[in-house]
Amino acid sequence: MKNKYNLRSIAATAIGQVLDKGQSLSTVLPELQRNINEKDKALLQEMCFGVLRYLPKLEWFISQLMEKPLTGKQRILHYLIMVGIYQLLYTRIPAHAALAETVDGAVALKRPQLKGLINGVLRSFLRQQVQLEERNHNNNSQYLHPSWLLKRLQIAYPDQWQDIVDANNQRPPMWLRVNPQHNTTDQYLTLLEQAGITAHLHPTHPNAVRLEDATSVNRLPGFDEGWSTVQDVSAQGCAELLSPVDGDSILDLCAAPGGKTTHILELAPKAHVLAVDIDDSRLKRVKENLQRLKQQAIVIQGDGTKPEEWAHGQQFDRILLDAPCSATGVIRRHPDIKWLRRDSDINELSQLQFQILEAIWPYLKPGGTLVYATCSIIPEENSLQIQRFLTKHVDASITDGTEFGLQILPSTTGGDGFFYARLLKQAQ
Ligand SMILES: C[S@@+](CC[C@H](N)C(=O)[O-])C[C@H]1O[C@@H](n2cnc3c(N)ncnc32)[C@H](O)[C@@H]1O
Repeated sequence: MKNKYNLRSIAATAIGQVLDKGQSLSTVLPELQRNINEKDKALLQEMCFGVLRYLPKLEWFISQLMEKPLTGKQRILHYLIMVGIYQLLYTRIPAHAALAETVDGAVALKRPQLKGLINGVLRSFLRQQVQLEERNHNNNSQYLHPSWLLKRLQIAYPDQWQDIVDANNQRPPMWLRVNPQHNTTDQYLTLLEQAGITAHLHPTHPNAVRLEDATSVNRLPGFDEGWSTVQDVSAQGCAELLSPVDGDSILDLCAAPGGKTTHILELAPKAHVLAVDIDDSRLKRVKENLQRLKQQAIVIQGDGTKPEEWAHGQQFDRILLDAPCSATGVIRRHPDIKWLRRDSDINELSQLQFQILEAIWPYLKPGGTLVYATCSIIPEENSLQIQRFLTKHVDASITDGTEFGLQILPSTTGGDGFFYARLLKQAQ
């Protein structure tokens, strides 16, 4: 039986909401895929993530195939054409099926009069594909990044920017964090093998396991009982660096959706954790995650720049500040970031990060430890912040073996881009 919905039109709608309305894919997809079966959901996601990953290249192809791009009310069909070209280039869907379904998308989008146009553009793409791909190779759009970001990466990493760009353009591997309260990592690896899932250990992160192929969490042994959590290996470094100990009072600031809150409690189940985030709706996810892992923490809504409103003068043994950031280290997982962020955001974000760091420092006990982390690879949000902070606060010193924090770059074989710095507050 033919589906009631047309996946290509839904993908075009999602892409339009990201590019024209500035919404993130993770916000628009759950709503749009509500009545879609699991297999179709996977294809829908593949098309949306894929188009946003390859956007400049797809734009360039369209510019070579059409005299004028579709604009205004017909803009949605521009995105439908991208979905069509993406399938022809990067999926195994037979060309005739990709073409027919995409052309039908125009009907689902209530523009049946433009079926012929979509069909024509996609057919000319197929005819000229080889020459077009050759010509695209000598074009800046091949890097698949906005020029402002490319420029920042080239300046910050003159020898590594191309590797970073390659890593950002890949499909991300799926990493798990094994909960040591239930299994050792080796034991869990055996359970995965028994479930037919091939996985690999990480040489230095003790609880990290990389899956050979991404899979649904329903297939993971004991997932509902909290035996493992989906989390990139680099993100796992934050709680490891914090080194929580049972009995500690710990502030997890900017905690939602709770990936690191639950990690802290896996490492120190008897720690007293206060998880704070400004976004109430995201805090629901913290509570759900704590529930799945059967952990206890106090979860409150609060603004990190105004701890006087919610901390009630309490000082903490340890603070994890996972600051709001440009997320430029996780582009391979969220390719929409490339089109949602603007150059000017970096300055605004770095001001906010510094403001939160300054505001929260008095709430760390003398002798206490604060880990500052971001999933950014922009120095202004990372090492330069720490450098500035250390200059300003003589009672702060860095204890992670680096000068101004550890910058991890996204890598095709490893984890996401991340930054962490561990600061010690002088004992009185
Ligand atoms: C990188 S995410 C945190 C991820 C989380 N730590 C985890 O591991 O799952 C950054 C968070 O900062 C929060 N945030 C942004 N501005 C904030 C502020 N002024 N005060 C507190 N939280 C803030 C956002 O709502 C977002 O949830």
